[in-house]
Amino acid sequence: MADSPHHVPRYPKSLWRDIQGLPEFPALAGDFEADVTIVGAGTTGLTAAYLLSKQGVKVALIEAGRILDGTTGYTTAKISSQHGVMYDDLITNFGLEKARLYYEANEEALAFIRNTAEELNIDCDLTTENAYAYTTENKSVSKFEKELKAYQDIGINGGEALNEIELPYSVEAALVIRNQAQFHPVKFFAGLVPSIEENGGRIFEQTRAAKVKGSKNPSIETTEGHTINSRHVIVSSHFPFNDEEGLYFSRLHAERSYTLAVTTEKKPPKGMYLSVDSPGKSLRYAKSSEGDDLMILGGEGHTAGKNKENTFNNYERLREYGEKHFGITSIPYRWSAQDLITLDKVPYIGPAVTGKPNVFVATGYAKWGMSNGVAAALLLSDLVQEKNNRFADLFDPRRTKLKKADALSFFKENMDVGKEMIAGKLHRKDQKLEDLENDEGALVTQKGKKIGAYKDENGHTHMVSTTCTHMGCDVEWNNAERSWDCPCHGSRFSYDGSILEGPAVTPLKKLDNN
Ligand code: FES
Repeated sequence: MADSPHHVPRYPKSLWRDIQGLPEFPALAGDFEADVTIVGAGTTGLTAAYLLSKQGVKVALIEAGRILDGTTGYTTAKISSQHGVMYDDLITNFGLEKARLYYEANEEALAFIRNTAEELNIDCDLTTENAYAYTTENKSVSKFEKELKAYQDIGINGGEALNEIELPYSVEAALVIRNQAQFHPVKFFAGLVPSIEENGGRIFEQTRAAKVKGSKNPSIETTEGHTINSRHVIVSSHFPFNDEEGLYFSRLHAERSYTLAVTTEKKPPKGMYLSVDSPGKSLRYAKSSEGDDLMILGGEGHTAGKNKENTFNNYERLREYGEKHFGITSIPYRWSAQDLITLDKVPYIGPAVTGKPNVFVATGYAKWGMSNGVAAALLLSDLVQEKNNRFADLFDPRRTKLKKADALSFFKENMDVGKEMIAGKLHRKDQKLEDLENDEGALVTQKGKKIGAYKDENGHTHMVSTTCTHMGCDVEWNNAERSWDCPCHGSRFSYDGSILEGPAVTPLKKLDNN
């Protein structure tokens, strides 16, 4: 825990990934047969593998990197049905019955986590907490009044909570949902692995899916050229790697957000807090692996690849907020996350496209993947086994009826992509390769061509083509994460071009120094 007080650490490190002894798995070395192939070993992939293997289904779970090193390792790890202030909108867009189903799906996911942690004796620091949404702005009070009415109509376990708020500044309106939870996500989901293996499930790391082939008995082809034949495929790779089917690239919006874990002079408040002001703030307490009290501060979100300033500033603003209200004494961890949001804010979970009933997708958890991701696994486990599930219609990715607001968001999203494709090529500022400092990245001109370059701490330069391998937009340098981020659909690449985040399945082209 040693970074000096008042300084954001130079390199990202997630509290949840600061853990020893995670199991490791070999890469797939040849062709394989399974009943179900699951792509992506995060919240949904591991939970679905656990549920299916427990019921005698032969599962192959493949992961492009290491298990739990995607979004699940970089969350604030709240398990809650309170996803901001959204139930009033849900009732308007989907009707009361479906809004209630959304709440119930998330409550069932929370109950599953609680029961499973107990049943498998997983020590994952799970505590029961109230979840509070609040605003400090008078103009938002009427929104909270409507949301309170939505809570009452749906029968949500909670309500008005202004008098319960324990924050060191004044708040204009607040709502609570009771009996929610927080935990250590990597400990919990890694705790499912022994059971998956005991039940015959196989996990392969460093195994990237390249294609889904066929429909009745779909198979997965990996980038190494191996094939997994199965009867069902579940794509839970965050952004569906096969996104051209079902045009997912045009129906998902990627957002980045930032998190600090800090020690503070004032004790962190009990409960989980979410400000719905702009920019929003998320707060919860946690323990470090040494048992120190930590406060987790999140927020400062923006559209992926479109932060026009140094991304260290996003962390810096969180630090200033923590310093002002709680007195920061050290900042042992900082990390960022990328989240996907659907056009109507409800995740896509179910058959990926019409005509391929055995290829399933789960994506678009809108920053609430701990509950939505587990809800997805519970639903998909039923769909694979052809069992009825009352949440299937609500989450069906093939829903086509776009409400007016969703249609506008669809056109804006895709017009923005078109603009990026043109603007990225025309107006790119750059600098000279020889002017790069150590640990600095930028667009540079080499032999009259613009390329991406990062000079590492040892003065070695890594050069890549900045044309995104997904659909050809130009990637931008992200200083705090030392990555190349695509503004179109959120693909991210390391400084050396390797893939950090899809939908891209091919690395950026490496260029040599000559
Ligand atoms: Fe689609 Fe880059 S992520 S073009």
